[in-house]
Amino acid sequence: MRLLTPIAALLAAHGASAQLHRLAAAAGKMYFGSATDNGELNDAAYVRILTDPNEFGQTTPGNGQKWQFTQPSRGSFSYSSGDQIANFAKTNNMILRCHTLVWHSQLPSWVSSGSWTKEQLTSIIETHIANVAGHYRGQCYAWDVVNEALNEDGTFRTSVFYTVLGESFIPIAFKAAAAADPDAKLYYNDYNIESTGAKQAATLRIIDSIKRAGGRIDGVGMQAHLIVGSTPSQSSLEAAMNSYVAAGISEVAYTELDIRFRSLPPTAAGLRTQADDYATVTRACLAVDACVGITIWDFTDKYSWIPNTFPGQGAALLYDENFSKKPAWTAVSSVLAAAATGGPGPSTTLTTVTTTTRTGAPGPTCTAAKWGKQYFELFLTLRFLPSTRA
Ligand code: G3I
Repeated sequence: MRLLTPIAALLAAHGASAQLHRLAAAAGKMYFGSATDNGELNDAAYVRILTDPNEFGQTTPGNGQKWQFTQPSRGSFSYSSGDQIANFAKTNNMILRCHTLVWHSQLPSWVSSGSWTKEQLTSIIETHIANVAGHYRGQCYAWDVVNEALNEDGTFRTSVFYTVLGESFIPIAFKAAAAADPDAKLYYNDYNIESTGAKQAATLRIIDSIKRAGGRIDGVGMQAHLIVGSTPSQSSLEAAMNSYVAAGISEVAYTELDIRFRSLPPTAAGLRTQADDYATVTRACLAVDACVGITIWDFTDKYSWIPNTFPGQGAALLYDENFSKKPAWTAVSSVLAAAATGGPGPSTTLTTVTTTTRTGAPGPTCTAAKWGKQYFELFLTLRFLPSTRA
């Protein structure tokens, strides 16, 4: 459902806090969210932004629910890391996406190095899911049941699960998750399935195989770890989402969005391209009713996973390392504001709005997309500033 709210009412109601989640909700999406991790919750400045209910309405634990942490040795379950994030979400009224039950990575060696029969590994998967999804039953809006099962060419990735069970490990996992938490939306989650191609086509086959086996799959999570300047077109993004819906799932989501620079530091032009790329993904989600929301894989460059995995790359998020909003933030906010208010949507050209305060002194400078410029001007007017000028 898409809600159209008169802009004045929207801005007056939201005051200074008309931000990402609030705008996404006003545009008919369920949430705009950010992943987080345990260590970061000790950073007060970080927590202040993450807990702003207008900014983020959803979170995902970046690590704490993974097998490595939840069942580090056989039969020994630990929920302290995952619970910290789940409780944080509950305290702050945030939707919780749970991540992840069956993944080849961050899998303890007692699983990955064991030599198992089909029956033994089936039982290990079922036991893990019954315990972990059972522990979080009722708390997860969605579970990423199986994560990253595919190679780039659409074949199945080699893992202990695939080696022992073939592709049947996927329906086994989905059936176990449905039994453990009947109300959670069950997702297949992967990267490079945001646009059409071999991996997206293989994702359609996964949906089909789960259904043919009598399992339930509700959603496809498109991680969207993208690269500045190489983000797929809006039409390709929409085509992939629509293909999943046509295959019979009820929803899709961008689950781990970040758009990284391959070399650092970013130039001003690079930051504008990044803003355009973020705007493209946001527009694509807005254009497809089944897209329930966008989660960025943390919100600040201070805590991004990228520099550890891709040394020399990064600056992928909406806030920089000092918690300043980047042009990409403004682009996402402007696209959401346009959708929330039925506006035409911003052009991709960023512009700068300089303000003056009541005393005539220079006020804040906002970088905004073209339509966003009008939004900011009206916003500032409603904040009783006497004048704005571009
Ligand atoms: O647990 C150890 C800790 O004992 C040790 O002291 C510390 C020293 O560096 O490392 C800790 O493990 C780290 C772990 O995160 C937990 O903090 C690993 O080194 C580190 O590699 C690991 O990175 C995570 C990565 O998944 C692993 O693949 C990132 O934080 C996490 O953001 C990232 O998330 C994944 C999604 O789950 C799936 N999609 C891709 C995405 C990005 O890689």
